[in-house]
Amino acid sequence: MARNPYQDDRGNKDRSITNVAGIGTLSGLDEGGEARPAPGGPYLIGENMTGGYGKGADILHGCTISVEKGEIAVIVGPNGAGKSTAMKAVFGMLNLREGSVRLDGEDITALTPQARVAKGMAFVPQTANIFTSMTVEENLEMGAFLREDDISGTMSQVFELFPILRDKRRQAAGELSGGQRQQVAVGRALMTQPKLLMLDEPTAGVSPIVMDELFDRVIEVARTGISILMVEQNARQALEIADKGYVLVQGRNGYSGTGKELLADPKVRKSFLGG
Ligand SMILES: Nc1ncnc2c1ncn2[C@@H]1O[C@H](COP(=O)(O)OP(=O)(O)OP(=O)(O)O)[C@@H](O)[C@H]1O
Ligand SMILES: [Mg+2]
Repeated sequence: MARNPYQDDRGNKDRSITNVAGIGTLSGLDEGGEARPAPGGPYLIGENMTGGYGKGADILHGCTISVEKGEIAVIVGPNGAGKSTAMKAVFGMLNLREGSVRLDGEDITALTPQARVAKGMAFVPQTANIFTSMTVEENLEMGAFLREDDISGTMSQVFELFPILRDKRRQAAGELSGGQRQQVAVGRALMTQPKLLMLDEPTAGVSPIVMDELFDRVIEVARTGISILMVEQNARQALEIADKGYVLVQGRNGYSGTGKELLADPKVRKSFLGG
């Protein structure tokens, strides 16, 4: 299963969960409506990524992560497995010694993170993902710094997705609860109108109810055709909404498959999902 993680059965095909079919003419869908990879390969793929920080030892060892349009791909694994490092590698914050990153068929391995944002990638890091002394509204405006068009429509969409942010828009983001701060961080990323949204542990430190709500919002975002690449500590719940899942172990692909396959795999359950 781990051999060719980006070419096996992609997703649970449950269109009540994600809108794999709702991505219009750009999608490479055939008459039957079944999703299949675009001619150039997956929408996003970090392939065979090997590298580490600075001149330090390699953290990633031939790691491959991919996601299709409108899909939710989830990375799980133990602390220190390299999940955040894999996200940084995909976003261009790490020099890869081997491997490549391709977005919509284009090799973007050499691009800076800023250039990747311009290509449609948005990244919400695990920590320090909002400006605490700025208001909620200012945080959202900061998210749109690359845009020169009218951002008010996108701001309204973010407020529709996260109504509490509209109520608290004049409040300093640092005064919000943990779950609300994560909404600010996700909202700020959405202000760039990304095609790919990368979230590193968006539910860290929030209650189970808030986690469920945030996952519902993530599903809603995916339904609009935006691809989601998400690292999650709440592995079981995240895999339940995942079209595709990756278990990283010591910088390598340990297991991969659809969310359902991983949830049903006895070895994955025993080692990574608490039985
Ligand atoms: N900025 C850094 N400089 C040097 N080494 C780092 C840096 N960030 C992470 N590492 C190392 O890379 C390895 C993988 O860390 P990473 O943060 O990617 O793990 P993770 O799977 O995201 O863990 P967690 O579940 O705790 O978030 C660890 O050994 C860590 O010490
Ligand atoms: Mg991490």
